[in-house]
Amino acid sequence: MPSHSMETGKPPVPQAFRGRILHAVGREECVYLPDGGLLVNQKGLIEACADWPAIEARHVLKGFEITHLPEHCLIIPGFVDLHVHLPQLDAVGCQAESLLSWLETYIYPAEMHLADSGYARDISHRFFTGLLANGTTTAAVFLTSHPEAVQIAFETAEALGNRVIMGQNLMDRNGPEALIRPPRQILSETEQLCRQWHRADSGRLQYAWMPRFAISCSDELLAGIGWLRRQAPDVYLHTHLSEQSGEILEVSRLFSWAADYTSVYERFHLLGEKTILAHGIHLSDSELTRIQSAECALAHCPGSNFFLKSGRFRLTEALRRGILYGLGSDVGAGPEMNLFQVMKDAQYMQLDTLIPLEALFYAATLGGAKALFMDDRIGNFEPGKEADFLILNAQGSPNFSFPAHPDVDSMLSRLVYLGDDRLVANTFIRGRQVHGLSSCLTR
Ligand code: GUN
Ligand code: ZN
Repeated sequence: MPSHSMETGKPPVPQAFRGRILHAVGREECVYLPDGGLLVNQKGLIEACADWPAIEARHVLKGFEITHLPEHCLIIPGFVDLHVHLPQLDAVGCQAESLLSWLETYIYPAEMHLADSGYARDISHRFFTGLLANGTTTAAVFLTSHPEAVQIAFETAEALGNRVIMGQNLMDRNGPEALIRPPRQILSETEQLCRQWHRADSGRLQYAWMPRFAISCSDELLAGIGWLRRQAPDVYLHTHLSEQSGEILEVSRLFSWAADYTSVYERFHLLGEKTILAHGIHLSDSELTRIQSAECALAHCPGSNFFLKSGRFRLTEALRRGILYGLGSDVGAGPEMNLFQVMKDAQYMQLDTLIPLEALFYAATLGGAKALFMDDRIGNFEPGKEADFLILNAQGSPNFSFPAHPDVDSMLSRLVYLGDDRLVANTFIRGRQVHGLSSCLTR
């Protein structure tokens, strides 16, 4: 397994940030500190998060670099994007009749370009810097089937400091020749890449087995992935499930023995902890129950679902059941990477139910981390977690301001309905600044 020893995530001195702080502490519970303190130690771990007077009373701050944030700044945890496609960054906004025709007309041709390693390097750099500029500190990323492009994506994320879960896109049928590969070859390639990258840099980079969706995988490929999963249960599995009616019809034609779409993945032992299922829109009660008992995570991608007219995710049902789920930008079906916009879309998509603001913010941060079984490391500011956080600047956007008398709800309401990437002044992962200028912080 990997032997990476990059010094990412190690600030030279412990840091203390004083200012407004907001984070989720439960499924429908957030805490807002108008005069808070966040202490980050030299290892990039959170030492404390509390009201500033309590921080001063309980901690010796000698040796800390103290940053006093101005009134127009707010610290929040970094966002977790549960589903996004790197190779589709340059194919956003291509309208089509259906998911399957969109894939064939625009997406497969866009993905073919990553056979060119110069282009793969360029798009990878723009993609990972784009995530950081949008405040996404953790992302579950779809790539292409080209092993060299997967290698380049990992190298780029490693260098830029992103926290990622990703892998080779596995397809052996029903796609262009340039993207499909013989099952044995692709299984051996993905295993090799996993050996090299899974848990690199102390777990900042993790690997996922990534069958694109049932339509693009033969029985032999799915069985091989199930075998890999049993050999390495710690590795993630990330795929698409039940997104559009035409797709579901095609799955029932290709796997005529299957009672439903979910049973295809069940049959090949692909469901369990650390399985991320994108969309899951047209799931029956039985499928939801099986997905929940297997502890799979659903990635809800409302911007994409609006764009492709895929249907409406059963969000209130997912909340009622307590199913593991998070939010995904799903670029390029989703229009942009920004999770502020995705929270708003998730609200707007539910036509007759108001989703609690706390639940949306939780889904974009701690809930996403929990869906990835990473809530012991990231998602909020509990002491001992790795310090992935954003400094927002309310003056970054002309449409935005903090409420005159902020509390949790009024603050969240502004963020969900008015927030966008212009607010993200600085992004930190493991305490290391990975986006923004230090000069906008007053020390
Ligand atoms: N299903 C299979 N591949 C894709 C993809 O690239 N995007 C979306 N939205 N759905 C898919
Ligand atoms: Zn997708």
